[in-house]
Amino acid sequence: MGKKYLITSALPYINGELHIGHLIGCYLPSDVYARFCRAMGRDVLYVCGADEHGTPAIVGAAKEHIPVKEYTDKYYEKHLRAVSDFKLSFDLYGRTHTDLQEILVQDLFARLEEQGLIEERETVQPFSVDDNMFLADRQIEGTCPKCGYDKARGDQCDNCSATYEANELKNPHSAISGSTNIEMRKTKNLFFLASKVEGKWKEWLKEHAPKWSKTASAIAMGWANEGLHDTSITRDLSWGIPVNKPGYENKVFYVWFDAPWGYVSISQAANKDWESWWKNPDCFYAQFMGKDNVKFHSVFFPEQELAMNDNWKTVDLLKAVNFLNFEGGKVAKSTGNGIFLDEALNIAPSDCWRYALMSSAPETDDTDFTMARFADVVNKDLNGMLGNFVSRVCKLSAKNFGDIVPEGNGIDEDLAGRINTKITDLTNALEKCEFRDAVFALRSLWAIANEYMTVKEPWALVKNGDTKAAANALNECFQMIDLFARVSAPFIPDAAEKMQNVFENKHDLSWPTKYEHRIETNEKFVVPENLFSRIELAEKEDK
Ligand code: MF3
Ligand code: ZN
Repeated sequence: MGKKYLITSALPYINGELHIGHLIGCYLPSDVYARFCRAMGRDVLYVCGADEHGTPAIVGAAKEHIPVKEYTDKYYEKHLRAVSDFKLSFDLYGRTHTDLQEILVQDLFARLEEQGLIEERETVQPFSVDDNMFLADRQIEGTCPKCGYDKARGDQCDNCSATYEANELKNPHSAISGSTNIEMRKTKNLFFLASKVEGKWKEWLKEHAPKWSKTASAIAMGWANEGLHDTSITRDLSWGIPVNKPGYENKVFYVWFDAPWGYVSISQAANKDWESWWKNPDCFYAQFMGKDNVKFHSVFFPEQELAMNDNWKTVDLLKAVNFLNFEGGKVAKSTGNGIFLDEALNIAPSDCWRYALMSSAPETDDTDFTMARFADVVNKDLNGMLGNFVSRVCKLSAKNFGDIVPEGNGIDEDLAGRINTKITDLTNALEKCEFRDAVFALRSLWAIANEYMTVKEPWALVKNGDTKAAANALNECFQMIDLFARVSAPFIPDAAEKMQNVFENKHDLSWPTKYEHRIETNEKFVVPENLFSRIELAEKEDK
């Protein structure tokens, strides 16, 4: 087995409907990378799952008037559905409300306490008189203390990404009842003394952040100037991981204290050798997420990992993507703006979404996804370039040479040279997780193949009686189909499988270092059904 690769994707909150923003923010980039790594022969452990704790689930369940556990079970099923629909190749898609997670998090807490890194502090917390409860995190909204955004949440501002304590929020109101009758009441909470590991963390960050994606390292380095603040890790809630300390029977751990450790507990559930990734200094750890999660993964999680002093594997490559808007607006079920994952497959098969989303991955800026562009990409790239190429080659060859691959006379060196440049580009881009560049290189490979057909005109060669030359050109094209099955597989696994199945012998989809002829003359093949179909958008109806 090759080198160990640990790959994790941000655990999406259990609440609400999944949409294409989740595909690009939580699921797809990591999946493409994981598939690429496996094809390279690496020993991959790839996990994700639902983040079940915190106020989002509590607020969601209250809206549907069902118990939280019933609510999380219902939405977890939807997550699993999306994972299988979009061919996400996690070793396990887990969840965080499990016994393994509880044992792990309580152990970790004990470990921090042992090291003198936990302190009990009396704080004043917002208490909603009308709701008769303390308001934590998303149960309270108000004005951001840092930037003045007026829809800031209790623990985090969606506008400037600042994190803070709920009592710092200005003009607070309850997100449950809307009430502004908020009193500040005293309560006890446990704090993690992050300031004590600041030196260690800064050293770590200096070494690691420069190797991350631009968006991620810029955000992380920004926090380094701020220094580490001690953070409260307990909440007055009844849903979450119970706090294993006398006097805290009515509290649970803060969701961001337990969530990242979900990567570990899900790994434990996925693979009994989980420690050979998580405690192995030679393992390479890549994390994927939306930019709003960067602080938690570059500050909170590593500072805890370092504080444990237990050789926990920290992130080597942190890949963050920006936000994906839809038709100019924010995706939201409430306004009906966006494509939701339970309906997406009625519009187009999963490969189309995978490819189109990766080709416009919001890597440098927030990006707008439009249906017009989606149709364009599917029609031009997938159907027009790749699909048509495969089908023309197979049909033309079957018609003139039967169901066997016609005879070639060796690799076309000029063609191989051009292809190899693109294979190198593609490989380098995937290695660095620069996905737009990767898609560009992949599309260039398809373009080379189409151009080869146009220049060689095998149909004309047949017509003019130059059968040998026609056979040779078609043979070369079959070799390219075999290549495309391999290099396209991380992006469009279904189409890759169809290309693989063109040939009677199943050739592996290992990652190629260079263009090679693996298909034997006279090898049997079948003409596949069309890989893709065009997408015709209905004219927008006037309302
Ligand atoms: N649930 C969080 C969100 O959707 C992400 C948690 S990532 C974790 O923003 F790994 F830390 F769990
Ligand atoms: Zn703000």
